[in-house]
Amino acid sequence: MEKVPAVGTIAKIPAVGLGTWKASPGEAAEAVKVAIDAGYRHFDCAYLYHNENEIGAGIRHKIKEGVVRREDLFVVSKLWCTYHEPSLVKMACKKSLKALKLDYLDLYLMHWPMGFQPGEEDVPLDLSGVVIPSDTSFLETWEAMEDLVIKGLVKDIGVSNFNHEQLERLLNKPDLKFKPITNQIECHPYLTQKNLIRFCKAKDVSVTAYRSLGGSREGTDLLNNPTIRRIANHYNKSCAQILIRFQIQRNLIVIPKSTNPKRIQENIQVFDFELTENHMDEIMSLNRNLRLATFPTTESHKDYPFHIDF
Ligand SMILES: NC(=O)c1ccc[n+]([C@@H]2O[C@H](COP(=O)([O-])OP(=O)(O)OC[C@H]3O[C@@H](n4cnc5c(N)ncnc54)[C@H](OP(=O)(O)O)[C@@H]3O)[C@@H](O)[C@H]2O)c1
Repeated sequence: MEKVPAVGTIAKIPAVGLGTWKASPGEAAEAVKVAIDAGYRHFDCAYLYHNENEIGAGIRHKIKEGVVRREDLFVVSKLWCTYHEPSLVKMACKKSLKALKLDYLDLYLMHWPMGFQPGEEDVPLDLSGVVIPSDTSFLETWEAMEDLVIKGLVKDIGVSNFNHEQLERLLNKPDLKFKPITNQIECHPYLTQKNLIRFCKAKDVSVTAYRSLGGSREGTDLLNNPTIRRIANHYNKSCAQILIRFQIQRNLIVIPKSTNPKRIQENIQVFDFELTENHMDEIMSLNRNLRLATFPTTESHKDYPFHIDF
């Protein structure tokens, strides 16, 4: 297992960021304020989460207080699938910027490789409950995202939920102007993603791990897994801290979500201990290729990413 420095950034991205999915509008601003005070500088946001307005208020509050400057922060947002038409990309990005009250994003991700029919519905479904696709390709969507970099609206661009073939297609795109700096993917001990991570590293694309705690409401027991619990006891740390540290030692960026002040603080206290190689191996061996974020209504989409192994 390769060693990494305890604190730091990976491919310009602070190694621990605050996840914000399901942070309700009522709690998101406060969570951001607590997180900034606790030392977070990286915020993982998305148009889809419908809370960017409140996150922006939290950020603005802390900048006004003089606790941080805009340039100290690393703010990420994501292009939702109903905005894949190249003509919609800039407008979608501007919507997120306006809500976040920022004039640039540090990173803008294509949330999924799949384009959906544009409109009011985030996930437009036909009468049989299947997503209605758009006829876009992620390569043309990417070109429109490249324009955002050129126009100065975003510093970098990346992807999320891309399998290795999709990433390869993007990297091999003729006239590619900007490479994706990260692929944000589901990753935790039950879905260790060894092959996709190896592929991304070989292509010099960083990996950001989402749902690293197993996302409590999705029915996994990761935070109660006996192996994780035993290892946590050994280091006198919480199970969440072990799950986060595990990803950092794999050289991944990790974005645990919490709106609870105590847990927000706990989740970034992961730089004062190091898991042994044996403990890392033991956690790796929990892999059971269990994917939680399967997005079933999109399984028939031409760009559905999870029909192949990695
Ligand atoms: N690109 C994508 O398609 C995609 C998909 C999913 C997620 N994401 C991003 O990744 C982030 C993280 O993933 P996630 O939100 O699905 O799941 P997660 O971070 O694995 O788990 C979040 C859950 O764990 C709880 N929790 C947090 N810290 C804890 C601790 N120290 N002890 C016990 N429980 C704790 C949280 O509850 P409390 O809030 O009550 O603490 C919340 O219910 C998201 O918020 C989002 O930003 C991206």
